[in-house]
Amino acid sequence: MQVLKAENILKTYSKEFTAASLNVINGLNMSISEGEFTAIMGSSGSGKTTLLNIFSGLDKPTLGNIEINGINLSNLNIDEKAIFRRENLGIISQSLSLLNDLSLYENIVLPLIMLGRPRKKVKEKAEELIKLLNIHDVMDEYPMSVSQGQRQRAACCRALITNPKIILADEPTGNLDSKSAKKFMNYLRLINDEKKVTLLLATHDSKIASYCTRVIFLKDGVIFADIYKNVEERKFLNKILDCLAIMGGDD
Ligand SMILES: Nc1ncnc2c1ncn2[C@@H]1O[C@H](COP(=O)(O)OP(=O)(O)OP(=O)(O)O)[C@@H](O)[C@H]1O
Ligand SMILES: [Mg+2]
Repeated sequence: MQVLKAENILKTYSKEFTAASLNVINGLNMSISEGEFTAIMGSSGSGKTTLLNIFSGLDKPTLGNIEINGINLSNLNIDEKAIFRRENLGIISQSLSLLNDLSLYENIVLPLIMLGRPRKKVKEKAEELIKLLNIHDVMDEYPMSVSQGQRQRAACCRALITNPKIILADEPTGNLDSKSAKKFMNYLRLINDEKKVTLLLATHDSKIASYCTRVIFLKDGVIFADIYKNVEERKFLNKILDCLAIMGGDD
């Protein structure tokens, strides 16, 4: 079953002070099946964040259609999109959008509280994730008084707490030390294997991408290459490195 279908996506930004415009995404087509574990790679500025924001309905394409779980995002208004996100998606954004007036614990449990889940269930699930990402010692701190990596781990917990069937993650391991990154990726692999969660994550890190079963390379606003893991992980990593070398750019 197809979980995500993007057709002829165009995203144009007009350049300040000039009449020129920039097609960040330039007629892109993509489909993701249920249970796929996909990385999006591409040099800085290649449109990874733009694309994930379009998929989550946080941004609109200039042209084109996005369907997620059979729902066409362009048919939803802002409020409906917010409900759609809360019910369907786990989002880890690059800007680490934790609420500064809430403690890390309050940030993490907020999505479940909003869904009206019983306190006991909320606490159990939160504790499982907090343990996994090893941030119990800063749970009562506020986002501004902890490190970037601790904020990112809290943002990961918050995205996973509702057991979403689709996770969109923008460089989720970008601020993590290698041990935490490995633990986090192994957890994603587990929920992908066991619960058929569909994962789409942007990363610059080829080692992180090699945990996935598919890697899509973006260049010049379109898909430059789309490869599947049909070999062991170490060989897949070499395939990813080969693609990056052929593609060029700053990766
Ligand atoms: N609001 C905006 N207005 C104008 N241009 C924008 C805007 N947002 C993004 N861009 C441009 O779109 C391009 C793609 O940006 P995007 O953030 O999607 O790249 P990225 O692949 O996520 O990069 P990185 O790896 O650095 O996170 C960049 O050239 C950026 O300057
Ligand atoms: Mg980005």
